[in-house]
Amino acid sequence: MPEFWTRVYGFTRQLAESIGQVLAEDAGRLTPELKADGSLVTAADKWADGKIRQAITKEFPEHGILSEETSHTLPSNDWCWVVDPIDGTTNFTRGLPLWAISIGLLYQGTPIFGLVHLPQLKQTFHGYWYGSSGIVGPSGAFLNHQPIQTTSDEPSPSHLFNLCARSTEILNRPFSCKVRMVGVASYNILLVAAGAAIGGIEASPKIWDIAAASVILQAAGGLLYHLEPNAIFPLTIGLDYGSRPFPSLALSRPELRSFFEPQVAFIGERVRSTYRLS
Ligand code: IPD
Ligand code: CA
Ligand code: CA
Repeated sequence: MPEFWTRVYGFTRQLAESIGQVLAEDAGRLTPELKADGSLVTAADKWADGKIRQAITKEFPEHGILSEETSHTLPSNDWCWVVDPIDGTTNFTRGLPLWAISIGLLYQGTPIFGLVHLPQLKQTFHGYWYGSSGIVGPSGAFLNHQPIQTTSDEPSPSHLFNLCARSTEILNRPFSCKVRMVGVASYNILLVAAGAAIGGIEASPKIWDIAAASVILQAAGGLLYHLEPNAIFPLTIGLDYGSRPFPSLALSRPELRSFFEPQVAFIGERVRSTYRLS
């Protein structure tokens, strides 16, 4: 198993960095198209999706892949990679240097490894979290090889809480922290993992937005709490996750759930009723 993890980490890091180098040349220069769900896509998203899939298939032919620009159904392989080739396409097309390549690895439907690379920030996050999978391996969360952990502070008006574009109603009510919005779901969560923000919300991220970052946040001492009644992991083989949102609250400590959940629960309720989730 140790060689497996050295291979997984080395492969993922090298892949994300080499793809990121090429993508960075196109940042701010491509005309996006509108997808059916209203989000943007560029030739660069599709190119990176294809290259990442190709590299994974070559290195781990026995593993499955679910990626934003190609296939959204969970395959039956025990190991499955979950890829967002560019997280933050709107930032990427407008030349804002906040965008990421997000690569997660699931074992039997549960994320256990994640790597997120932000090429223009020169930041690479990675982490391991095995939960009850029975898998063993390295532990911890890292930013550019340095261990990271969430803050143990109490929330206050001078602590940061990240919003997404679909959670701005929070601004119409009294809120306990100062808010920020970065436009990249994975980075929203990773800022909590790194201790910069105390919490964050993503109203309707897809599995490829959260698979890698949720592992890193847990490994750093936090929790990605899903605003729905049932556990979302393990994912179900054969299900199409293309339009399934996972309203999520990033917490620097699991104990802060009772503090933040009442302030953001209405967002989860709205998403669950719009998408008819249980
Ligand atoms: C989007 C971004 C955005 C988040 C959306 C995502 P994309 O990803 O991460 O910040 O709020 O939910 O879909 O479309 O740029 O990969
Ligand atoms: Ca995304
Ligand atoms: Ca994307």
